[in-house]
Amino acid sequence: MKETNGKVMIKLNDNTLLKTDALINGEWVPSDNGDLLPVKNPATGDVITQVSKSSANQTKMAIEAAAIAMQDWKTLAAKTRANLLKAWFELMIEHQEDLAKIMTAEQGKPLAESRGEVAYGAAFIEWFGEQAKRIDGDIIPAPSHDKRIVCIKQPVGVVAAITPWNFPNAMIARKAAPALAVGCSIVIKPASETPLSALAMGELALRAGIPKGVINILAGNSSEIGGEMTSNDIVRKLTFTGSTVIGKLLEAQCASTMKKTSMELGGNAPFIVFEDADIDAAVSGAMISKYRNSGQTCVCSNRILLHDSIYDEFLEKFVSATKALTIGNGVEDHISIGPLINEKAVRDVDELVQSSVSSGAEVICGGGPHQLGSCFYQPTILKNVSRDMPVFRNEIFGPVAPLVRFSTESEAISLANDTEFGLAAYFYTRDIGRVWRVSEALDYGIVGINEGIISNEMAPFGGVKESGSGREGSKYGVDDYLEIKYVLMGGLDR
Ligand code: SIN
Repeated sequence: MKETNGKVMIKLNDNTLLKTDALINGEWVPSDNGDLLPVKNPATGDVITQVSKSSANQTKMAIEAAAIAMQDWKTLAAKTRANLLKAWFELMIEHQEDLAKIMTAEQGKPLAESRGEVAYGAAFIEWFGEQAKRIDGDIIPAPSHDKRIVCIKQPVGVVAAITPWNFPNAMIARKAAPALAVGCSIVIKPASETPLSALAMGELALRAGIPKGVINILAGNSSEIGGEMTSNDIVRKLTFTGSTVIGKLLEAQCASTMKKTSMELGGNAPFIVFEDADIDAAVSGAMISKYRNSGQTCVCSNRILLHDSIYDEFLEKFVSATKALTIGNGVEDHISIGPLINEKAVRDVDELVQSSVSSGAEVICGGGPHQLGSCFYQPTILKNVSRDMPVFRNEIFGPVAPLVRFSTESEAISLANDTEFGLAAYFYTRDIGRVWRVSEALDYGIVGINEGIISNEMAPFGGVKESGSGREGSKYGVDDYLEIKYVLMGGLDR
């Protein structure tokens, strides 16, 4: 990093990846009202740079440009779209280090995690590029012999995407890639905390040769940009990753124009360790699943449910692994836990911890903000946690692990399902009967068995209940961007 004009610039191999204007119709466009959005490094509090804050009017222009661009884009041969996505993927990998540095600077996650996220995001672009060639239709037997029923799949239309700060690259890739693969164009609003990763991806998309207007990226105010996205009837689909509260609001706003929506919302993941589990494997799984991105993922273990008979052994090993975590600025070597995204996040996490402690939870380690800076929180383990406590009921989004005891399989399932959320759940066992029983009994969209990381481009990611709707990644990930058109062919006997 080097100082310029009071801003802390990120030192990159390719400085032209650092874009600060909106990408509209293939051009870099400053804010029409001069408004700027400061982008802060959560580890240091420094302002990295300022990006243009786009207005509702500019959002409308981007949507209109996307509609025009889509007319040609959707008629390209699937293989041509696939090749362009492949070129975008390759550029992301070529610039992995710069993209990771940008991400760590604006988001805070350790550089190794940022590199991993860039590869994870790029994998969606590669995967969906390949899927572009597999958007097959159907021919269905008709009710009489002179007819045939044909189903074709067509792109839904212009897509609007609102993406979160916790995965500034991969959540854009996971939405833009399937949209583009099937022939849609897209307008993206990245989180205000992390616009630089998004804009750098936009620059690489242009370099890959993706035509102007097919991808548009605007940072700024949620109500202005989001309001235009949800009310504009050109937009036929809204895809959102974020909180359940905002997801419900967007879903309601989309109702007036009957947009298709997919919502990847909050989670409250149980992590169950049964009496027959491999405890060392369970501790490793819990570490990665709990502390990935400092606990700021929708699929982070939120409640660790432990069988009575292995409770003490798990606790001892988990506490010692937690105490060995290294906390600090993610650009430094060997850091395993970076800052939370902002000071409000620290306050929110601490409130959940303190109110649970007041209700009887016991702090085993950590238990409050970290002295490293205003965005850091200590990795924290709480025991004696019960169903009524705030850390049990709410998504924590921080490095806090609440431990809960159980004594029977049915009690574990009841504890696990006792939440309005249903995104990811994990359990550890070596018993094949239990593997099936528990997998089927958990009210979740994703179940990890003897694994703490479940995300990859080949698997369908998504939740049930108030964790949302739709699936991202996998062969199912294109469905949310397609309409099925039924064509009846009659008179075939004549
Ligand atoms: C999320 O937290 O929203 C996504 C996590 C993942 O893709 O693993």
